[in-house]
Amino acid sequence: MGLFITFEGIEGSGKSTQMEMLAEYLKEKSVAVVAVREPGGTALGERVRAILLERPEEPTEAVAISALSELFLYEACRAQLVEDVIAPALKRGATVLCDRFTDSTLAYQGYGRSLDLGAVTAINTRATGGLAPDATILIDLDPREGLRRATARMSVVTGAKEDRFEAEAIEFHNRVREGFHSIAAFEPARVHLVDGTGEIDSVHRSICDIIDHLMTKT
Ligand code: TMP
Repeated sequence: MGLFITFEGIEGSGKSTQMEMLAEYLKEKSVAVVAVREPGGTALGERVRAILLERPEEPTEAVAISALSELFLYEACRAQLVEDVIAPALKRGATVLCDRFTDSTLAYQGYGRSLDLGAVTAINTRATGGLAPDATILIDLDPREGLRRATARMSVVTGAKEDRFEAEAIEFHNRVREGFHSIAAFEPARVHLVDGTGEIDSVHRSICDIIDHLMTKT
C-alpha cells in the first residue's frame, strides 16, 4: 500500500501550492505520485464542485444548499473519489496527495456550520470506507491573513475584488480554524501543524522534513 497524505487548512493558507511543491519534490525522488483535490477528482466530483462553489453574479441564480445537503454533497464526491481513484492508487503502491479530505468536513460542516460532530464523523467514515490518511499537513494561518491572500489572488486572476471566502463571515472561518486545531490536538500523531505565515520555500522545507521522516519509518 502506498502512503496517503492529505493537506488541510483555511482558504488562502497556501495548502494547494504546498501540495504541488511536495508532488514535484517526491517526483524528483522517483516516487509515484497521484495528486487529487476535494471536492473533485472524478467526473461526478467536478460537477458537484461546480454546484458547491459557484457564486453567480445574481444571488437569485444561486442554488439553495442547506448545511445538511452540503454535507452530503461533499461526502458524495468523497465516496466516488475514494472508490475510483484513491483506493486503487494506494493499492498500486502510489503515494496519494489529497487537497482536503475528511478533516475539512469536520472543520467546515461540523465546527463551522455547527452540524453534530459525531454524525459528521460517522458519515465521513461511511464515505471513505474507513480509509484514513497516514499523515495530514495542516497549514495554519489567521483567517484575516488568509482572506487578504485569497482576495489578492482573485483580483490578479479575475480582476474581481470579492471571492467566495468573503461571502462567509470571518467568525465562520475562525470557527473552522479552531476546528482544525481541535482535530490536530485530538490526533497529534497523524496531524502535523505547520505555520503558514512563513515564506513559501521555508514552509515547503518544513513539509519535506515531515514527509521524509514519515517515509523513512515506512
Ligand atoms: P479550495 O479549493 O479552496 O480547497 O475550496 C474548497 C472549498 O470547499 C472550501 O471553501 C472548503 C470547502 N469544503 C467544505 O466545506 N467541506 C469539505 O468537506 C471540503 C472537502 C471542502
